[in-house]
Amino acid sequence: MKSEDLKKFKGVRKITMLTAYDTQTARILDKVGVDVILVGDSLGMVILGYNDTKSVTMDIMINHTAAVARGVEKAHIIGDMPINSYNTIEDALLNAHRFMKAGAHSVKIEGCHTKVIEAIIAEGIPVIGHVGLLPQTAKKMKVKGKKKSEAELIMADAKALDELGVYAMVLECIPLNLAKDITETVNALTIGIGAGKHCDGQVLVINDMLGMETGYTPKHAKVYANLNEIITKAVVQYIEDVKTGKFPTDKFSFH
Ligand code: KIV
Repeated sequence: MKSEDLKKFKGVRKITMLTAYDTQTARILDKVGVDVILVGDSLGMVILGYNDTKSVTMDIMINHTAAVARGVEKAHIIGDMPINSYNTIEDALLNAHRFMKAGAHSVKIEGCHTKVIEAIIAEGIPVIGHVGLLPQTAKKMKVKGKKKSEAELIMADAKALDELGVYAMVLECIPLNLAKDITETVNALTIGIGAGKHCDGQVLVINDMLGMETGYTPKHAKVYANLNEIITKAVVQYIEDVKTGKFPTDKFSFH
């Protein structure tokens, strides 16, 4: 789906977005009708085991974007520009084009980097912005915009991004009333994560909503399945079957 088509849904129906990092997961999301798949740099944490997203490189992002693209027929794919991939306009353009070549339909940039975003849009590459909590640079992963002064800065960034012509913006971990005000102010779609019900759409990190993690689950993440438990049970059963000779039986053997 193209970004122009997504934008038509503003005020009409909610947009569904989830992250995915591999072909099989992307294929499932695409088949059931998720509108947008974000190849997020959150993969640094949920796939690669880092404590934050700062170690994610363009090469890693391109591999995962291409993997997702191989599983998708209809959904809009977003490539998430990792930290240090848009330090200069030249880098930003080169890297945005790399994402598009790998199969993305648009790119996401954290924060209001006016010149860079302007240049990418001028190349005909749609951009989705990202305001509120910005994991690439945040010192603490906590809600932003509770204070009036902070809320005003977030609103100012949202308006500036809208004027630059982003087709959408992620609102991460901000109070729901601020998200409501932004949604009612900007022409772009607002996609919330921890930003409440008034946004034009919602996004979750797939590993959080599928219950892959046993320890910390962010407050905003509704857990729809407990894959950790399902995988654990299956692997425990496999270990027992192999050790006791129950697997492989004749059915799984060649003669
Ligand atoms: O990287 C990511 O998954 C994201 C979402 C949290 C919006 O940026």
